[in-house]
Amino acid sequence: MTPDAVITGWGFYVPPKVLTNADLEAMVDTTDDWIYERTGIRERHVVEGDEVTSAMATKAARAALARASVRAEDLDAIIIATTSPDYLLPTAACLVQENLGARAAAVFDLGAACAGFVYGLAVARGLVMSGAAKRVLLVGAETISRFIDWTDRATCVLFGDGAGAVVIEASTAGSGIRSTALHGDGREKRHLRLEGGGARHPPTRQAADSASYLIRMDGPEVFRLAVPAMAEATKEALAQAGLRLEDVDLFVPHQANARIIEAVAKRLGLDRSKVFVDIDRFGNTSAASIPIALCDAVAQGRVRQGDTLVFAAFGGGMTWGAAVVDWLR
Ligand code: ACO
Repeated sequence: MTPDAVITGWGFYVPPKVLTNADLEAMVDTTDDWIYERTGIRERHVVEGDEVTSAMATKAARAALARASVRAEDLDAIIIATTSPDYLLPTAACLVQENLGARAAAVFDLGAACAGFVYGLAVARGLVMSGAAKRVLLVGAETISRFIDWTDRATCVLFGDGAGAVVIEASTAGSGIRSTALHGDGREKRHLRLEGGGARHPPTRQAADSASYLIRMDGPEVFRLAVPAMAEATKEALAQAGLRLEDVDLFVPHQANARIIEAVAKRLGLDRSKVFVDIDRFGNTSAASIPIALCDAVAQGRVRQGDTLVFAAFGGGMTWGAAVVDWLR
């Protein structure tokens, strides 16, 4: 019998340093009012010193493993969804494996930008349902602050750092991650780029000062593409699960911009009470935003056993997708 893939543990970590909109007012020509009105963000967390992606991912992972009562040495796979790993090589997943002592795990990073966590759910589900793995650790972890142009007011106000983790286990419960819908469109890649550091622009000394090492984004274009994509992927994932919009108990979208989330909910006809938003405190943490929001929603009592959750995300590449999950069932 094909096993189901169930989320049994969850945890998150954000670095202690908080960067408020008032702090940004002192750095670029912006205001708290503009940022809050246009994005819904009040503050975000950013790393200091050498606490970057793998360290945050390890802390989130430890919390998720404890919640699931799973020992690190019993993990079969570790997937780190990230666009901001510590290094090109070794992967963040190898560093997390070493930190946790998860000696039996297959380890790899997954690059799908802000959609990385939803992509990771699909991969983890596939590993579990195929029988290739019984216990998978999936972490969305990002240190986007290291790739921000802190003089560009259009991007520097948006992003935050952090990590969110889930443990996904094989079960015969007949439920868990019910469906995933994944998409991409490389033709639209120009709207969101971070081109330095790869083989085309290798990190030579000469290149190290180049703006290609920083995120470049056409915000309005990303906005325009994100809304229909997230809404359509949500419908697709629900249809695959044999569910309707009325069956959704909580929609936990990628926290890119409160206005994107509102527009997606409106397009779907989803009541605001069923939409979870915590971008005001964390900003856009890219692949980490959905698992952080999930933990936040659970802590706030917004998720009950048996609830049907929908995750939807859109990110650079472009990449997007949605997943339907029965919570603890
Ligand atoms: N403070 C004050 N003014 C600003 C700021 C700022 N921080 N940033 C831009 N402006 C100005 C612009 O210069 C422009 O001025 P102008 O009219 O004189 O030219 C004006 O505000 C309007 O700029 P727009 O870019 O049109 O503003 P918009 O309402 O589209 O908001 C934003 C910009 C917030 C970036 C929005 O487009 C957005 O959120 N897009 C989605 C991008 C996103 O979420 N990216 C994350 C990665 S991908 C993902 O996670 C989905």
